Amino acid sequence: MIEYKTTQQIEAIGIAGALVRRTLDAVRDAAAPGVRLTQLDDLAHQMIRDGGGVSAYIGYHPSWAPSPYPKVLCVSVNDVIVHAIPDASRLKKGDLVSVDLALLVDGWCADAAITFAVGTASAADQRLMDSTRAALAAGIAAAQPGARLGDIAAAVGSVIRAGRFGLLAGHGGHGIGTSMHQEPHVANEGKPRRGLKLKPGLVIAIEPMLQAGGRDDYRHCKDGWGVRTADGSRAAHFEHTVAITESGPLVLTA
Ligand code: MF3
Ligand code: CO
Repeated sequence: MIEYKTTQQIEAIGIAGALVRRTLDAVRDAAAPGVRLTQLDDLAHQMIRDGGGVSAYIGYHPSWAPSPYPKVLCVSVNDVIVHAIPDASRLKKGDLVSVDLALLVDGWCADAAITFAVGTASAADQRLMDSTRAALAAGIAAAQPGARLGDIAAAVGSVIRAGRFGLLAGHGGHGIGTSMHQEPHVANEGKPRRGLKLKPGLVIAIEPMLQAGGRDDYRHCKDGWGVRTADGSRAAHFEHTVAITESGPLVLTA
């Protein structure tokens, strides 16, 4: 069932979205060589508490996962694409880091992700990040009332393929609201003018995940949570929570 939100409910998701944004920005600013991934998670956890939020990740246990998720962030480094549990390893200069965060404030959930380099990005990493951001921007621009889910998928996918990048097979965005993952699934590739018609009140997370090597397949990390590229190439992930409104897409995590 799709949960359509009122204007007030969209504003409530925007309050959660502002806390997601502040926290991700602080995590990016704190990331430096020698910093442990668990330190980034501790910082985010404290900011979520101070901001009156509740993690959407801690205790999350989908059927495919071996155990409940134990942290507030996913911190996926280099060839890891998404869903990595932050551990005690330390960041190194040149690492490419994807950080994903979803939380609830007053029962409303927002979800966003960023990728950044520790220090200066290589030209290849910069191009990968730029294309991922561009794919997200294209998806948001396509999220117009009266358009269809396929228009978003086609917009995202065409940017990915134009750059000769791979995506993450079987993964995409999702509806969001009173819980993190809701209908509909928002694919990162597809046919325009197909699928669900976008109506005001629909709130979705759009989240392109790009693989530098151009392949779409993946492997699971040893912990069963992290997802890494099959070819060992690097990956990037950007995500926003977006409401469809009468006047167009409204980004709630900007
Ligand atoms: N934000 C992620 C997504 O939408 C969900 C991560 S679930 C976690 O795909 F439990 F791994 F954190
Ligand atoms: Co998401």
